[in-house]
Amino acid sequence: MENRTINTIKTYKKIIIYYFSGTGNAKNVALWFSQVAIENGTECQIINIAQIDRRSIAQPEPGALVVFISPIHGFNYPPIMLNFIFNFPKGKNKVVLMNTRAGMLIGKFITPGLTGIAFYLSAFILFLKGFSIKAIMPVDMPSNWISLHPGLNVRTVKYLHQRNKERVEVFTRKIIQGKHHFKALIEIYDLLLAPIALGYFVAGRFFLAKTFYASGDCNNCDLCIKSCPVKAIKKVDNRPFWTFNCESCMQCMSNCPKKAIETGHGYIAAFVFVFNAIILVAFYKFFNNYFIPIENTFLKVVVESVLSIVFIGIWYRLVHWLLSIRIVERIIVFTSLTKYKWWGRRYKALKEAEYKN
Ligand SMILES: Cc1cc2nc3c(=O)[nH]c(=O)nc-3n(C[C@H](O)[C@H](O)[C@H](O)COP(=O)(O)O)c2cc1C
Repeated sequence: MENRTINTIKTYKKIIIYYFSGTGNAKNVALWFSQVAIENGTECQIINIAQIDRRSIAQPEPGALVVFISPIHGFNYPPIMLNFIFNFPKGKNKVVLMNTRAGMLIGKFITPGLTGIAFYLSAFILFLKGFSIKAIMPVDMPSNWISLHPGLNVRTVKYLHQRNKERVEVFTRKIIQGKHHFKALIEIYDLLLAPIALGYFVAGRFFLAKTFYASGDCNNCDLCIKSCPVKAIKKVDNRPFWTFNCESCMQCMSNCPKKAIETGHGYIAAFVFVFNAIILVAFYKFFNNYFIPIENTFLKVVVESVLSIVFIGIWYRLVHWLLSIRIVERIIVFTSLTKYKWWGRRYKALKEAEYKN
């Protein structure tokens, strides 16, 4: 927790920034915001929500501006930030909602990420608690989701840092002058992503959590276990094991000094095949023979979702055990795209000296 002050006149008595960050983008945005606020003489407190007791959150003092900053995961804030906002005490403060999302670069054009329902949902919860929303702003920082796409190149990462720092500074100056900012509401199509955001809420926890594993390069330094913001990694059979608590924030993968943490594309593809071609077929054969056939689509989705969660749990435990056999470990590693240089460049947000010209 940092607490810094300079004495001059200010619109807000104080600014309290609550942030969550997997790979450092949201943390950078929090720092950029605070630097401008401090230069303008406003006391600014930055709080990493992963490092505080989230069950007893202090009520913000009247007159303070409260800022929430978090990455977008699956078209919404991740559960840690949503729970935090949900448990946040009631108040009458002004609030700013910010996110970092997946920016990419085409020439000099920064392609925007997708916020989905993050702002709508959080604004609604905070409004019910008595707060008034002053501004919302998405920041298109480099995408860190290398389980899904190849890691971004250095030029793109640098450029996105430089441009976004300027944008956040302009935005912050506007906010500390007491102005509103709701430009992001133009992205009304975000609402169409609501069903996917809801689906991701389940899939993220019960499926993506099980896509990570530690290869034979792991030296058991336990950094991933100690630094996981949601304490989702534990030791099973003397190697890191990702529990269903994992929020796929990518922090473990980006920090591993041995680059031993991979996304298991190969064993996940095998899971999908075995689940659909064998488990589901066998299940319906058995169920339809001995009970009433399931014809209702909704019921089918529920049954198949529950079955897939149970089966991925078993599958992941099996894979974890098989990793102790060298030949199987090699097959799993070589079928993981993150293992390859052209795909698996780990992402970590840059420090100022690294993106300054
Ligand atoms: C599991 C996961 C899901 C993501 N989903 C989205 C998304 O729905 N929309 C988006 O624009 N970016 C998405 N991203 C990209 C991140 O939001 C983006 O890289 C963010 O800047 C990371 O911030 P951080 O470094 O503070 O963790 C996702 C990233 C991960 C790892």
